[in-house]
Amino acid sequence: MDKRVLLGVTGSIAAYKACELVRLLVKEDIGVQVVMTAHATELMGPATFRSLSGNPVALDLFDDPGAPIHHIELAQSAPVFVIAPCTANVVNKLAAGVADDLLTTTALAFTGRLILAPAANTQMYLDVATQESIRALQARGVTVLTADNGELACGDVGPGRLPDPRVIADEARRALRSSEALAGRHVVITAGPTREDFDPVRFVSNHSTGRMGYALARAALQMGATVTLISGPVSLPAPVDARLEFVGVTSAREMSAAVLQAAATADIVLAAAAVADFRPRITSEVKLKKYALSELSELREGETVITVELVQNPDIVTQLSEARAAGALKRDLVLVGFAAETNDVDSNAREKLASKGLDFIVANDVSRADIGFGAAENEVLVISPEGDTPIAKASKFEVAWQLLELITQATNAS
Ligand code: PMT
Repeated sequence: MDKRVLLGVTGSIAAYKACELVRLLVKEDIGVQVVMTAHATELMGPATFRSLSGNPVALDLFDDPGAPIHHIELAQSAPVFVIAPCTANVVNKLAAGVADDLLTTTALAFTGRLILAPAANTQMYLDVATQESIRALQARGVTVLTADNGELACGDVGPGRLPDPRVIADEARRALRSSEALAGRHVVITAGPTREDFDPVRFVSNHSTGRMGYALARAALQMGATVTLISGPVSLPAPVDARLEFVGVTSAREMSAAVLQAAATADIVLAAAAVADFRPRITSEVKLKKYALSELSELREGETVITVELVQNPDIVTQLSEARAAGALKRDLVLVGFAAETNDVDSNAREKLASKGLDFIVANDVSRADIGFGAAENEVLVISPEGDTPIAKASKFEVAWQLLELITQATNAS
């Protein structure tokens, strides 16, 4: 395991608590490289962190003459970057992509697991700008710990205290453990809806936005995997990473072809896409005019009714489980489906686990507006023949991370 952590310290009174964090990590032989902002050095001397970590403290973009591009070297030097304490200012800068000192340029160049432990005055922490920044960062795959409640240095009482260093150390340890869990593994992920055309302007589809699938892709990359992300039409940007192959598709049949091709080398397939089960039997190459549609219509109870014939699409995950059984894919390929349900969520998901030949199914209640389609958060039950594991409500990235941890632990143990 790569046991190195970058620790960013910013200008909060709580900067002194980062000493305890360094001590906790070093005690477990975790190498700590501290990066301080200029404001942090007003509150704590770099010499303290140098003594505790045993490493020189990085302070300035140009302070290492031996390193031609200091922030890039730092960003690539560890799989986990913890910023504790992280002021409201730095939270907001990171959300906006501002990179105007060593710490923020390093964070922008960093591709591993970024963990922020906020510390700020209650008003600054609860300010709409800060809370929106926290949500935006979480949606991008940054772990933002919840600030503690209590008495603050300014005398206010409320949320804004730095979380306990033991909690931050636990999160860093967990991230380190998982940072290589999927190294050398090929993970294929489907995301978003499919669109089934009637004609060039009309289609059948569903409400999937791709957020869950894209969160899975980011989490798998952070855990060291090589990822193929096969996505239906969504408005999200694909993660940029040398280990990611992006395949954009429109219809279920296109998705099926792309998945079967990618699955040939896959170790895990995560099917988060909401694939349309049916498509129009006939697709017109030109826009159907009202008069053409009216030829298909009849008048019923005073309304014009058009009858459209739909035919069944291939069930992609069933195709995969059949190909695996036939020996066409890796025998130990792990197949993970998602079940989008509005009622009898768990029992319907269980039924799909068996009928589609899956190893895991993630039961997702899409009747709720706060989770499921389009929401920033999710809350799921992971079902496998070995048992059920709930994942509590959290950002889709956090749910993705926990799901991948669960799958890797379960499959490594068997
Ligand atoms: O994209 P978001 O807005 O973030 O929303 C996330 C989500 C709700 C779409 C996601 O979490 C989810 O639940 N995805 C599965 C949606 C779905 O199609 O469920 P299903 O119960 O109809 O299908 C069960 C499984 O079979 C799924 O893994 C699906 O990808 C797969 N399937 C379905 C039909 C089909 N023809 N081929 C398939 O492979």
